[in-house]
Amino acid sequence: MRDMKDKNSKNKILFSETDIKDIVCRVADEISQDCKSMGINSLNVICVLKGAFVFAADLVRQLEIPNINIEFISASSYGSSDVSSGNVKLGCIDNLSIFGENILIVEDIIDTGNTLKKLTEQIKSFEPNTVRVCAMFDKPDRRSVDFDADYVGSVIPDEFIVGYGLDYAEMYRDLPYVTVLK
Ligand code: PRP
Repeated sequence: MRDMKDKNSKNKILFSETDIKDIVCRVADEISQDCKSMGINSLNVICVLKGAFVFAADLVRQLEIPNINIEFISASSYGSSDVSSGNVKLGCIDNLSIFGENILIVEDIIDTGNTLKKLTEQIKSFEPNTVRVCAMFDKPDRRSVDFDADYVGSVIPDEFIVGYGLDYAEMYRDLPYVTVLK
């Protein structure tokens, strides 16, 4: 297997580390400005494991919001396949205490939309004050359910990408850039 961290790797890089930093800063600014205009001083960030762990870590450090709490939940529907099973498994969600809170759900990617549709429905059942969704990448061509995020880092074509938290069979999450899996 090719070492994708090899600088001489011929894999097509879709987003370099610099591209990613620029996107994260832009999205963080949009969220911060919206919170300011809505008078929101406290934000409860829900990071959806595993894929969003890198994006969420970068994003929260760029947000200009006085009080930020971070929660982690797990969601999985792909297993070791590159096609969604459609059967979304959510973990740790019952431990959330978010009644009346301002929620920002942070995801790495929206594909079919199944994960975020199910997750936001469940989050809303806890009766938070506001719920907004931020995704680093969005693949609208693959959508099978009606779902749009409030904040999107970049719309991407229908290619299987890895890196920056995104995996194939648990590999490549550690790549600092985003590349197309051959
Ligand atoms: C990926 C990704 C999203 C979801 C998006 O998770 O992190 O949560 O798929 O796909 P969808 O829009 O078709 O539901 P995955 O199930 O691969 O788990 P992981 O985050 O642990 O890699």
